[in-house]
Amino acid sequence: MLDFIGNKKRSHLAENLTQEDVGKNVTVMGWVHRRRDLGGLIFIDLRDVSGLVQIVFNPENEAVHAKAGTLRNEYVIAVSGKLIEREERNINKDMTTGAWEIEAEELLLLNNSEPLPVQINENILAEENLRLKYRYLDLRREKLRKIIVMRHKIVKAMRDFLSNEGFLEIETPMLMKSTPEGARDFLVPSRVHNGKFFALPQSPQIYKQLLMIAGFDRYYQIARCFRDEDLRADRQPEFTQLDMEMSFVNEEDIFRIMENLFSYIFRETKGIDLPIPFPRLPYKEAMQRFGIDKPDMRFGMELKDLSDIVSNSDFKVFSGALTSGGSVRCVVAPGCAGYSRKKIDQLTNIAKHVGGKGLAFVKVDENGFTAGISKFISDEEREKILQRTEAKAGDLILFAADKNKIVFKVLAEIRNHFGKELELYNKDDFNFVWITDFPLFEYNDEAERWEAAHHMFTLPKEEHLKYFDNEEDYGKIEGQLYDMVCNGMELSSGSIRCHRLDIQRKIFDVLGFTEEELEEKFGFFLNALRYGTPPHGGIAPGLDRLVMILTGAESIRDVIAFPKTLQAADLMSEAPACVSAEQLNELAIKILTDSKE
Ligand code: AMO
Ligand code: AMP
Repeated sequence: MLDFIGNKKRSHLAENLTQEDVGKNVTVMGWVHRRRDLGGLIFIDLRDVSGLVQIVFNPENEAVHAKAGTLRNEYVIAVSGKLIEREERNINKDMTTGAWEIEAEELLLLNNSEPLPVQINENILAEENLRLKYRYLDLRREKLRKIIVMRHKIVKAMRDFLSNEGFLEIETPMLMKSTPEGARDFLVPSRVHNGKFFALPQSPQIYKQLLMIAGFDRYYQIARCFRDEDLRADRQPEFTQLDMEMSFVNEEDIFRIMENLFSYIFRETKGIDLPIPFPRLPYKEAMQRFGIDKPDMRFGMELKDLSDIVSNSDFKVFSGALTSGGSVRCVVAPGCAGYSRKKIDQLTNIAKHVGGKGLAFVKVDENGFTAGISKFISDEEREKILQRTEAKAGDLILFAADKNKIVFKVLAEIRNHFGKELELYNKDDFNFVWITDFPLFEYNDEAERWEAAHHMFTLPKEEHLKYFDNEEDYGKIEGQLYDMVCNGMELSSGSIRCHRLDIQRKIFDVLGFTEEELEEKFGFFLNALRYGTPPHGGIAPGLDRLVMILTGAESIRDVIAFPKTLQAADLMSEAPACVSAEQLNELAIKILTDSKE
């Protein structure tokens, strides 16, 4: 028989019980996490949003004891009774509430449960797709529950801090005209305007700039963003940014507010004192030293350019790369000279996976180089390489030779691989760095045109405006752009914006927009820039990634209550799904191809 809750009120969450509550009558409500019957006594671990507490049912209290005997895992109960101290030998040190138990006097059975299709047990995890199908059950797991609670604390810290700093939280539309952030849009067909579409925001970029024009000075929003792009471990098709914008600021102001914000978040949520200010690394230097604009700086193993040393090399791979304008660089894997053929092949596969043609290597021993390409390296080259790399006997040197872009990609990937493989860093470290001085434009070789490196609303450095006069110089133009990187993850990205119409037009010229395209795509925005736009800039930390860093989660799916799979599907609700012919008719939409299923 099920009971109704009636007027019964919960007095405590399980893990809010304290020593001071001992001896008091308390009422807890939650799920039967585990039941054990021991010599007439029945023990229940009751679970609620805070955690666990043990309930003990004595046979003396016959009716309640009998009812407790019918409880199964995941039944929903309310229990009243006295909080008592456990005997010394029964104290469970692994449990926050392990020093006490509740001696049950009253038991309400609020609901029962069928046996679960997935177990709520960290040690016997079901396959991920099954857990995603029953996400609401998987969320009962301690690990996920703690992450979701932590996520709330992080968002609260953000709101508290920014509100104190005079930021206003303002919502911007979900149904909008597409913003050009570079990914594909999710489109929403209009019923009222057949044949026309809204786009879901890739970010509130244009709106936050319009809010600055409107005079709101300091804005933020916990903003949902939608991007129809290929997913990876740290990407979701819908994700959340702490979107921010400020007027009358320069880069330094943004750095300062962000460093203070992050140090506040870390202190409030983890009790960690982050050292601020964060170090800064210009983009070019990041590429030279780490091959990537989001370097994990918890460890060294920096790239070394050997192009000058091997400029006369007999090794075709090296000379070929150099004559076609590329470079030869290497990293030293400490103590890895013992690597087997198989292990080295694995490394070569990593290189090939990111576009490399191969990965040359030598092993270092007391007498010099052995194995790999050692026979192609002259004594003189070897001595210079040893000097530059500071490689020691027992090390493995890995070389990439190609266009710079590929060399950087390959060696950055190899370096990150070794960071993890050799545990070159402490997992609990938080290493923040600002990457600055990004180029404003990148040349797309395939499309044969210039593209915005971050986004097209970024203000160039004042001293680089002269480079707009000559296409050969476009690559030299640096923007007032910055990324905040933590442990090799791009956590935030932002810029000082183009508040002047004349400069914004120059940028659009470089990007090759025609007058009609501009008018059609952002006529409203360009128009707004005419009416007293203040200098402004902003940034947007990815909330999901920040939660990953603060909770040590491996996958972005673990930090989102209801995430999508890598195939951009929701396995629980089975979205996306077909819709009725009626709905399509209303929207004047006809499906041309058969769906893949
Ligand atoms: P950007 O596109 O670099 O900048 O995004 C800012 C931050 O958002 C996070 N992020 C993501 N997180 C999860 N899944 C994704 N698919 C995803 N894409 C991005 C990252 C990233 O650093 N409007 C600009 C910001 C600005 O200039 O103010 C923007 O959206 O942590
Ligand atoms: P090959 O001459 O193609 O047999 O290559 C000899 C060695 O050089 C092999 O270990 C390849 O993996 C490696 N290699 C080939 N291309 C490159 C490259 N672009 N950069 C670095 N190593 C390479």
